[in-house]
Formats: sequence, C-alpha cells, structure tokens
Amino acid sequence: MVLLDLVQRVYCAFNPPTPVKKNDAIRIGLLGASNIAPFSVINAAKSHSEVIVVAVAARDRERARQYAEKHDIPIVHDSYQALIDDPSVNAVYIALPNSLHYEWSLRSLKAGKHVLLEKPSCSNAEEARKLFNHPLVTAPNAPVILEAFHYQFHPAWQTFLSQVHQSPYGGAVKHVSSSFYLPKSYLTLDDIRFKYGMAGGCLMDLGTYPLSCVRQVLGREVRLHPVTAQHKPLPPAADGSAREPQIDAGVSATYRTDKGQTAQIDGDLLRGGGWSLSPLSWAKGLGLEWPVTHATLEEALVDSQDDGAQHFVQRNVTLWNQMLPWFYHRIDVCDTHVLRRQGRDVKTWKETKYLKAYNWPAGDERANVYRDWWTTYRCQLEEFVNRIKVRKGSGVWVDGNESIAQMEAIDATYAQLGLKSRPTTAVEI
Ligand SMILES: NC(=O)c1ccc[n+]([C@@H]2O[C@H](COP(=O)([O-])OP(=O)(O)OC[C@H]3O[C@@H](n4cnc5c(N)ncnc54)[C@H](OP(=O)(O)O)[C@@H]3O)[C@@H](O)[C@H]2O)c1
Repeated sequence: MVLLDLVQRVYCAFNPPTPVKKNDAIRIGLLGASNIAPFSVINAAKSHSEVIVVAVAARDRERARQYAEKHDIPIVHDSYQALIDDPSVNAVYIALPNSLHYEWSLRSLKAGKHVLLEKPSCSNAEEARKLFNHPLVTAPNAPVILEAFHYQFHPAWQTFLSQVHQSPYGGAVKHVSSSFYLPKSYLTLDDIRFKYGMAGGCLMDLGTYPLSCVRQVLGREVRLHPVTAQHKPLPPAADGSAREPQIDAGVSATYRTDKGQTAQIDGDLLRGGGWSLSPLSWAKGLGLEWPVTHATLEEALVDSQDDGAQHFVQRNVTLWNQMLPWFYHRIDVCDTHVLRRQGRDVKTWKETKYLKAYNWPAGDERANVYRDWWTTYRCQLEEFVNRIKVRKGSGVWVDGNESIAQMEAIDATYAQLGLKSRPTTAVEI
C-alpha cells in the first residue's frame, strides 16, 4: 500500500492532470532558460487552472527557442527586459544567478509584474532590505513578490511545525538542527553556485534551507547569533591553486539565541567520502542522506496530581525529508513522560508516533483543495496565485521581513566563517 501510494504520487507529480485554463489565468514569463524552472514552475503550472507559462527569455535567443519548443512555451523573447516589457505577461519567475535577483526583481516590479523569486532573495542583507522596503513592494496594491522557499508550503512542514509549537506537550524549543546535502557528482565546478561574483556558495544555495528551517522552528523573529562555523573550500585547481577562496562548498554552523536556545545547520554541495564496509557509510559516501530537521523541546509540566505527583513530558520531533516530502517523508514525535514526586522520578515511559502529512488533516478545508501528489513547488504556486488573486489561501507565506531576516542570518554566518558577504554587483534601478 505504502509503495503503491508512492508510485501514484510520483506518477501524478510528473504526469499531472491538466485542467482547462481559466480566461483570467496568470501568465508567467521565465527569466532565463534555467535548469530549475521545468520542475519548479513549468510542471507545477500544468495542473493549475489559473497559471499558464507563456514566455521565456534567455541571453541566447536560439537556446530560448529550443527551451520553449521543448516545454511548449509560446513566446520567446530576445532579452530579459523584452520579456518584462511584454504586456501579455503578468508575472515573472526569476531563476537567474543570485547576483541578478535584486536587479531583475526591481525591474520586473517596476514593469508591474508579480515576482516569484528564487532563493536566496538577494546577494546580501543590504540588498534584501532595499528590495523588500522599496516603494515598488510596499505601495498599496503593489505587485506580489515571493521568495521561493517552497518547502514551507507543503503540509508536511506545517504538520512538523505544529507538533513542535501547538502540541499540549510542546515546551519551548531547546535545540534545533537541520541538514541537507547533495552528492558530489551532481554539480560541476563551473556551476554558478561556485562563483563568488555571482553570489554563489553553499550557504546561499542549498545551505540556505537548513538555515531557514532552524529559523522557522525557533520563530522567524528570533535573532540567531553564530557561535561556531566551518566551511569546506572548493577542491584546488589542477595546478594546485585555490579556486574561488570566498566560496563555501559545504558549511556547518552553530548558533544561540538571546534566550539561550541553540541551533545547528549543515549543508554540503559536494557531499561524499571514502568507502567503508557498512552499507550506511556507502550511502554517506555517495552523498545519499535524507535532509532532516530535528527539534528538541524543553521538558514541560503537563499535570499536577492531588497526591503531589507531577507529570512532565519532554518532546523530540524529527522531520525526515523536508525537501521532497511529496515523494516520501516521516515525522517522528517522541515524548518521554516522567512522573515526579518530591523531585524523584517515580515512573518513566516513552510514547512515539510516526506521522505522514501528504495533505492537510482530514476535515480541514485546505485538504479539499490540495492533493497528496502535489510537490512543494505546486503547493507554493497555489499560494502565489492565491496572493495575487487576494484570496485567503492556506495561510502559509514568506513575507519581506522573513526574506530580510534570512539574508541577515546568511551574512552573519559568512562573517563567522571569516568569508565576505556576497558582493553587490547589481545595477541600481
Ligand atoms: N527552489 C529550488 O529548489 C531551486 C533549485 C535549484 C536552483 N534554485 C535557484 O534558482 C536559481 C537558478 O538555479 P539553476 O540551477 O536553475 O541555474 P542555471 O540553470 O545554471 O542558471 C539559471 C540561468 O541563469 C542565467 N544566467 C544569466 N547570466 C548568467 C551568467 N553570467 N552565467 C550563467 N548563467 C547566467 C542563464 O540564463 P540564460 O538562459 O539566459 O542563459 C540560466 O538559464 C538560483 O538562484 C538557485 O539558487 C532553486
């Protein structure tokens, strides 16, 4: 049954039903013939009756034409500017190198387009503050701009958060950790992610997810103070010289908050290692490790009995695979109960439950809209459209303050690493 459900989800995710598009569907244009857009927007839009991917622009028109032909996109533009000047386009998807996010967001907003902006929102916190406080964003009825933290929109992530924050046993968060790795064969060393001038680095790319995850668990308003940080440099070039010394190919960092809570993040774009005899380390050697987020809560007093006994519970919550939860995930909720009398433990027991949340809970009106096979990108697109159409939606959103705080946490981590914040190269608009 579990396997059949998984096969069904994967089949529908890659071969989604294609409803008739509505007359007032949002017409999205793609800035760049990017690698990610076929997954994040083109495929997600197929099953949305109110989204059509209508245009693409690339630096090389012939490449854009071939991309358009492959993905059935009707309009090809010669330049990014020509696409945002196209009055038939209502919204743009910006999946350009990070160094171009700020400039092309502002250009698009100025042209009145809604913006779905790939993470990280900008090259550094200064750019993020300028972008999200810009009158083009803050004016009444301004176009919508969303930093594409797609994982947050999936019911699995929200269920995990509710097990941390809304349970009767939920104490304050004591420690949170999050990790995400890519196997080292996945990217080549000439990738945009390994170029400092393009605002690359692991923390800017895949590492931004663990950082976002721990911030979500601790509370978006909580300030993280880096305590320790290490990075893995790029392997040296063939002649032995250092390649892009400001680039972190992998990153590990620990933090504390003003209340003394602690956090740890780990990310690696070139995960891999040697071989050993244990199958578990083979998987590690290949870089095949689940993305995981783990929260440890403070012990909470849940009941005081007439005989003087007090019932305490300490909860741990783990979400396995926050990045591709639609494929498979598991939420482990482990409660350690203690009955204590006059400071002495008189009884201890554990209760563990394993949850799945491919959709919102039964009975929740959102469950009638969402589908079990929706990818994180599809969930995100649903809420992007709801926001543009001024509908209530699921309630999940990434606002400008959140995007600014995320970039501030990235810059603070780079400072702790002894690396420079990513440079501003954008042309002022
Ligand atoms: N949400 C996610 O799951 C996810 C996953 C992967 C990536 N991302 C984000 O999406 C963005 C793009 O990532 P990607 O993997 O799709 O990248 P990519 O395909 O390597 O590059 C994206 C586009 O950047 C454009 N570009 C403009 N100037 C460039 C230059 N000087 N050198 C190289 N490319 C240039 C290219 O556009 P032309 O077509 O015009 O040549 C290319 O199509 C990044 O911000 C990344 O962090 C998000």
